[in-house]
Amino acid sequence: MRIAVLYGGISGEREVSLASGNGIINALKQKGHDVVGIDFNPEKLDEIIHLQVDLVFIGLHGKYGEDGRIQGLLDMLNIPYVGSGVLASALAMDKAKAKKIFEMNHIPVAKSKVFRLTKKMDITAIVQDIEKTFTLPFVIKPNREGSTLGLSIIQDKNEIEKAVENALTSDDTILVEDFIKGKELTVPVLGEIGNEKALPIIEIIPKNAFYDYESKYAPGGSEHIVPASIDERLEKQIQEFAVLAHQSLGCEIYSRVDFILSENNTPIILEVNTLPGMTPTSLFPDSAKAVDLSYEEMIDTFVTLSLK
Ligand code: DAL
Ligand code: MG
Repeated sequence: MRIAVLYGGISGEREVSLASGNGIINALKQKGHDVVGIDFNPEKLDEIIHLQVDLVFIGLHGKYGEDGRIQGLLDMLNIPYVGSGVLASALAMDKAKAKKIFEMNHIPVAKSKVFRLTKKMDITAIVQDIEKTFTLPFVIKPNREGSTLGLSIIQDKNEIEKAVENALTSDDTILVEDFIKGKELTVPVLGEIGNEKALPIIEIIPKNAFYDYESKYAPGGSEHIVPASIDERLEKQIQEFAVLAHQSLGCEIYSRVDFILSENNTPIILEVNTLPGMTPTSLFPDSAKAVDLSYEEMIDTFVTLSLK
């Protein structure tokens, strides 16, 4: 089959996507597909418009890749692609909107507030509002971003203004959330619509104070425990929440759902990643390995499921 892999792109997660894309391209070649790799640039849409392929594998992360925009273009061109469509991608990318849907489905979320910055708004008023609404420690992050870019954990109220400005470099909307102390867990979800299954839960033990960019991508930056060391009842509940979160947004084929397991054993959902990392240090491939699905087989499974 002739498959185009879109990777790289222009989001803050470009470097991650280059690594994901290389992995995906090699895996598809090993599985005997005829592969064309395209470093995606929205200024060169001609390349996409004239693609002569059977399928597109989107190996992009973040803006333009994971947020429904490229999916919309491929829909208009009538080119099939792997994974979630326009609405699910856009919803998952918008953490605040996705949280509303999780709440409607009774999946626990952290208390949060959204601030959308318009030109007339002054940052001081936002800082005061945050100070009034949250008790330390809490988290300030861009509403639509990935790989913890632009995220700060606030330990001191003097840090708020800088953190707001930092988050606003990625998005005009910021999300402020209670900081939940606990275990970092993530759950890959895989399967055709209505028949999705959760793969083994991964517990992440970052070398740094939290699972930041370096812990995510530097070799040895974090330890993954698969399956996570949690009791069976809780494991089942978290896997059910993961599948429900995936379905509630209307995701397709695969996603990875991130949680914090609080100290009182409540799984708090953070977000759904519709195009999770596929780099050598990434989580989804590690969990797949635990059920004897090699990286190449995993990528080929996504392709097969997409064509059904
Ligand atoms: N946003 C990164 C790629 C992930 O979730 O794995
Ligand atoms: Mg993410």
